[in-house]
Amino acid sequence: MPDTLLQTGPGVLSPEQQQIRDLARQFAEENLRPHAEEWDREAHLPREVVDQLGELGFLGMLIPEEFDGLGLDTTTYLLALEQIAWGDASVAVAMSVHNSLPTQMILSHGTPEQKECWLRPMVRGEMLGSFALSEADAGSDAASLTAQATRTDGGWVLNGSKAWITNGGFGDLVLAMCRTDTSEDRRGSKGIGCFIVPTDADGYVLGKKEDKMGQRASETVGISFHDLFVPDDQVLGDPGMGLIYALQALNGGRLGIAAVATGIATAALEYAVRYADERRQFGTPIRQFQGMQFKLANMATRVEAARALLGRAAAAKDSGDAAATQLASMAKLFASEAAMYVTTEAVQVFGGYGYIKEYPVERLFRDAKVTEIYEGTSEIQRIVIARELYR
Ligand code: CAA
Repeated sequence: MPDTLLQTGPGVLSPEQQQIRDLARQFAEENLRPHAEEWDREAHLPREVVDQLGELGFLGMLIPEEFDGLGLDTTTYLLALEQIAWGDASVAVAMSVHNSLPTQMILSHGTPEQKECWLRPMVRGEMLGSFALSEADAGSDAASLTAQATRTDGGWVLNGSKAWITNGGFGDLVLAMCRTDTSEDRRGSKGIGCFIVPTDADGYVLGKKEDKMGQRASETVGISFHDLFVPDDQVLGDPGMGLIYALQALNGGRLGIAAVATGIATAALEYAVRYADERRQFGTPIRQFQGMQFKLANMATRVEAARALLGRAAAAKDSGDAAATQLASMAKLFASEAAMYVTTEAVQVFGGYGYIKEYPVERLFRDAKVTEIYEGTSEIQRIVIARELYR
């Protein structure tokens, strides 16, 4: 396999970026890829894998060193995440959600006490975080959520259900968005709070685990709250601003999913390139056929374009560029569609062998699909991109 796929990244990488990326690649090669097929089949991820990510510092990559994090820039984090996805997309999404959503939200809006109590253990890998925004009837239309937070002495009482919770199965805490204000028909962003909910709280009920098409080892569950009491010191920031905090964090989350998609696409491309060299038909390796060359060229070009756009979007986030929101949506849109394209073509390169579970491209094809759906569908990304054109 040409090294060029590994060499590439957004621009020239610093020695530290190369080191982190190579560490992630080595971990993925030794500890993830050999088990990916089994974890997919069993639809289960051993908790030890999360512990290993914590030991590497990969559960606090963007968090400053004062809270035990690695304090890295977004580009370096995404380089590592892409390599983890190259090894196993389910592990990567667990890592992405934890790093991009709950830890970032507590870092940005938490009190010093909340950072000590929740952020530090999350960064050390002692607690895995989840993010609960969606509900059965509130997906793309996040503002229509109905889970209710009612004011009581010293805190809030939560009631309602949340859907599609990544890490919800074995996570330790959930940041849950619930409605704090029902005084009028709220269609806007205000009147929704964000609550830090430990998963062992009284009234926290784990619902069904979804039987998914892909990324099966990443456990996606429903949860519900039954008169669950949250003390005031577990409310994040302003109790009316939770949706805004969530949508802001999702800009970073979308970069994470773009990196996951790029990792999946890279893996599929590498398998296809190798197979086209080994597989012989009509007396020659199939890569000698121009039809095959065109396919591989299109696949490789999309992978590189996805990575380049991701690098641009990551740099925009770190520099506070006004275009960061739009670029994050562009990166997520392009990379997830590239992953779907590349994995579909990889199955085609493998022919019948691509359609059976004995070869990994079948799993990669299934793993790719959800990157076009979670953390905002491709349609939502297009809405965000188009809206930003008129700002
Ligand atoms: N960044 C920052 N702020 C944003 C934002 C963004 N990307 N998108 C919206 N906002 C702000 C707006 O500026 C607005 O603020 P003000 O009220 O102060 O003006 C507020 O949020 C509400 O925005 P809109 O008025 O535009 O709200 P809307 O109801 O028309 O819809 C939307 C906005 C873009 C469609 C939004 O609801 C959205 O992104 N939906 C998709 C939800 C989503 O991505 N869910 C992911 C689930 S989590 C998940 O998948 C994680 C996992 O486990 C893998």
